[in-house]
Amino acid sequence: MTQPSPAQKSVAKSLYGGSGSRRITVRDIAAAKERGEKWPMLTAYDAMTASVFDEAGIPVLLVGDSMGNCHLGYESTVPVTLDEIVMLSAAVVRGTTRSLVVGDLPFGTYQEGAVQALRSATRLVKEAGVGAVKLEGGERSADQVELLVSSGIPVMAHVGLTPQSVNAYGGYPVQGRGEEAAQQLLRDAKAVQDAGAFAVVLEAVPAELAAEVTRSLGVPTVGIGAGADCDAQVLVWTDMAGMTAGRLPKFVKQYLQMRELLGGAAKAFAEDVVGGAFPAEEHTFH
Ligand code: KIV
Repeated sequence: MTQPSPAQKSVAKSLYGGSGSRRITVRDIAAAKERGEKWPMLTAYDAMTASVFDEAGIPVLLVGDSMGNCHLGYESTVPVTLDEIVMLSAAVVRGTTRSLVVGDLPFGTYQEGAVQALRSATRLVKEAGVGAVKLEGGERSADQVELLVSSGIPVMAHVGLTPQSVNAYGGYPVQGRGEEAAQQLLRDAKAVQDAGAFAVVLEAVPAELAAEVTRSLGVPTVGIGAGADCDAQVLVWTDMAGMTAGRLPKFVKQYLQMRELLGGAAKAFAEDVVGGAFPAEEHTFH
């Protein structure tokens, strides 16, 4: 039997900013929680963008079903298929060397039960090479989490606002408001932790409640619209980089105006072509 290498036995000293020639694993994530280290996560949907984030030291990349809205032109995450997630997850894995790549299980590929979830997650692990999968739901998805984890597939859970339920919500409302809803959210987060999830995404949850969940869990919480006290923070990359058109949720911070920059570059190219300035001599073979 192959023995683990020294690198596999040890854990990364830090998730962000650390060096190392191997991929981040769920053991590194657990060690970061013990150290009280905060860490960033971004979505990625293609090899080239993923390689930029990998080089920037982002330790965890989520091939989220947000690709439905951000990459594939759907109106929500609901139509995204497992084939689409598998194909783009494989691209993200190919574009990275250090980031832990987490593949999202899309709507309809795990709700039937644990066996369906295992079949879907197995495709992501075997065909795309992801290191973990993510699924939505707390108590309602605990059986799925348990079977995946006991089968050797690390699971990131996702509670609070679960966008695959947009049709049931009638929008994207903040979750966990009021005593009863807050208690349910706590039960949901504990249920997936107890089922073996290595991290729990908290989406659109009041900051005070997210802080309480974070204190009460032994695994890291990954906040998106859940305040500053979560162990990690995730943003959809196209939102973070200013690529998304239209109104953005309140919790998004834009670090770049990429849509404007790219549109400007496209216009400059078009004007050069129309005006005859491109191609110039240096772009020409003789
Ligand atoms: O699909 C996605 O990008 C997500 C994140 C917003 C957590 O689920």
